Amino acid sequence: MYTLPSLEITRTYKAIAVLTSGGDAPGMNPAIRGVVRAALGQGIRVFGINRGYSGLIAGDMEEMNSASVSNIVQRGGTILKSDRCEGFKRPEVRAQAAEILRNHSIDALVVIGGDGSLTGAHLLFEETGIDVIGLPGTIDNDIFGTDDTIGFDTAVNTALDAIDKIRDTATSHERHFLVEVMGRNSGFIAINVGMAAGAELIVVPERAVEVSQISQELAESRQAGTGSSGIIVVAEGPEPGLTYRLAERLREHNQDPRVCILGHIQRGGSPTGHDRVLATCMGAMAVRYLCAGYSDIMVGVRDGRILDVPLHDVISFRKGLDPTLLDLALQVHR
Ligand code: F6P
Repeated sequence: MYTLPSLEITRTYKAIAVLTSGGDAPGMNPAIRGVVRAALGQGIRVFGINRGYSGLIAGDMEEMNSASVSNIVQRGGTILKSDRCEGFKRPEVRAQAAEILRNHSIDALVVIGGDGSLTGAHLLFEETGIDVIGLPGTIDNDIFGTDDTIGFDTAVNTALDAIDKIRDTATSHERHFLVEVMGRNSGFIAINVGMAAGAELIVVPERAVEVSQISQELAESRQAGTGSSGIIVVAEGPEPGLTYRLAERLREHNQDPRVCILGHIQRGGSPTGHDRVLATCMGAMAVRYLCAGYSDIMVGVRDGRILDVPLHDVISFRKGLDPTLLDLALQVHR
């Protein structure tokens, strides 16, 4: 449960819009539902924009009502669809987007997405004056200013479920498995999944690790009789296929691991209860913040409190893995 700020309503809007952008994340649907129902509750019209910023610049939107978001809270993906829009990186395209919004009498936009999407939202506000509120929607949990992002908990549990199954066959065959999880440049999914799965090793981009060191640890644990099989959780890192390269190198060191890349399965599935509550609170709070006169902020959560974080900060700073947590995670699994 979250503590919500009490906000005074100081303004209202005739119409607002909501879109989902970037990699989809389980929980985007409850977030959309939160935005729509909270807006309607304040007498504000809401437009759902399809396919993220691409749909916005194509004017692909429709008005939503309460029934538009019925029976979606449990569904993975996003009913509004999503996209990574290269064009939105150009100011003239953002100006065009603002014009389209104004032509529909829409003065505010709620953007649910990751860092690239939130950067677009900030620039839209700065350059055109359209009010924006961002919601952190990404499985990666790599957004500065918030402890948690919509979809992270579901992705961790999805990966965990898969790893528990992989462990069965790893144990039967006395093998090591390299399991690659998503997270691009950040190890949040890897560290959480690794800890929860009791992984023998966790490899994250935040901490360099030598292949010879991994190999030696595997060999030592085999010799000690504590590690005839095991799971090594590997964060995907900036370049795809890291896990295959790692396996190749381990073979040169007389290891014979198997590789499993969990991939986009981590982005699908019904959101967990945790993600549904987080997304619903954030979606509804986006509307409350707008009506309290806020703009150019992201709704975040810190120490159980829902709060506003300037989008400028969100996109300027990098959220780091807590080094103490990293040390602890690596230590307890050796
Ligand atoms: O949404 C974040 C993310 O899932 C990353 O973890 C991953 O690297 C990337 O998206 C994959 O993106 P795409 O769907 O474009 O392959």
